[in-house]
Amino acid sequence: MIVTPGHIRDIADLVTGRVIQHARLADVTTFKIGGPAELLIEPGAPEELRAALAYLREARIPVFILGSGSNVLFRDEGFPGAVIRLTGLRGFTIQSNGSDYAKVSAAAGEPLPALINRCAGDGLRGPEALWGIPASVGGAVVSNAGARGVWIGDLLSEITIVTPAAAEQRLARENFSCSYRSIDLPASAVVTAAGLRLVRDDPDAVEASMEAARKHRWETQPMGFPSAGCVFKNPAPDNPAGAIIDRLGFKGRSVGGARVSDAHANFIVNAGGASAGDVLALIEEIREAVRAAEGVDLELEIRIAPEGPAHA
Ligand code: EPU
Repeated sequence: MIVTPGHIRDIADLVTGRVIQHARLADVTTFKIGGPAELLIEPGAPEELRAALAYLREARIPVFILGSGSNVLFRDEGFPGAVIRLTGLRGFTIQSNGSDYAKVSAAAGEPLPALINRCAGDGLRGPEALWGIPASVGGAVVSNAGARGVWIGDLLSEITIVTPAAAEQRLARENFSCSYRSIDLPASAVVTAAGLRLVRDDPDAVEASMEAARKHRWETQPMGFPSAGCVFKNPAPDNPAGAIIDRLGFKGRSVGGARVSDAHANFIVNAGGASAGDVLALIEEIREAVRAAEGVDLELEIRIAPEGPAHA
């Protein structure tokens, strides 16, 4: 055990949100998989997050930052350290920027779907293609979430981070760059808020665009089972991982409770009682088959925590 009762008392003094020992990570992830975290901490405000980060750094306790838990697979052994869940950092504001644009500022723990719905209702065009991504704003930013050719990185005007030294820093758009499923930030930086520059449009046109995203998602992705979204990154825009895995006949293939979705082959679903071990074994099977058949090394899009070999 890394976390002692003394640590827990100290941290409980620093944050107003929940501090839970031996928290089941399956309860805070969309996969519904994962052993216990030694400690789960839910800061209620950015300054509480900074205080907790500074304390944990000093105490040399490993930290994992969690948003909505929609892009992560925690191992069955759990996380040996503190998982900091940012869902207590909520709220957003919409500020008109002339008649053509608006600036939307959102805290990292704000659910992306709520933000998208509100923007669409206000006739703000931009993020509606990301409809249905069950991420938090912070999670969407750090993975540069994208769908249907729209990337959240392209909409950002600024972000606020907590640096590894636990200081708050605002970064204007020219101070960071985004690429496919990633954003270049200092190692261990935590995104606490994001500013988006959105275009004013006719609310009906924005709603129609959101409806198209909704339709695509319902038609092509599994909606009923717990999952963590696409498991692998696309090796190239014209070579989607889902199409490769599908061609190799993996749809419906199961290991224990983990199954390759029948709707989209780049999704592994928890069909009931899946362990992280089941998912990791299926991931390894797919990778080996794709390597053998196509000579392509599929890279994970989901994060595995703690890190280490996919098959442990
Ligand atoms: N395809 C198949 N079989 C499948 C799945 C896909 O043949 O089982 C084919 C489709 O027919 C299509 C092509 O592959 O021709 C691309 O499929 P899709 O439009 O579903 O897009 P994708 O590249 O598989 C990406 C993102 C998704 C995002 C969609 C929607 C990645 C890894 N995935 O999927 O993001 O929702 O585009 O635009 O970039 C996620 O990040 O978790 C995620 C699901």
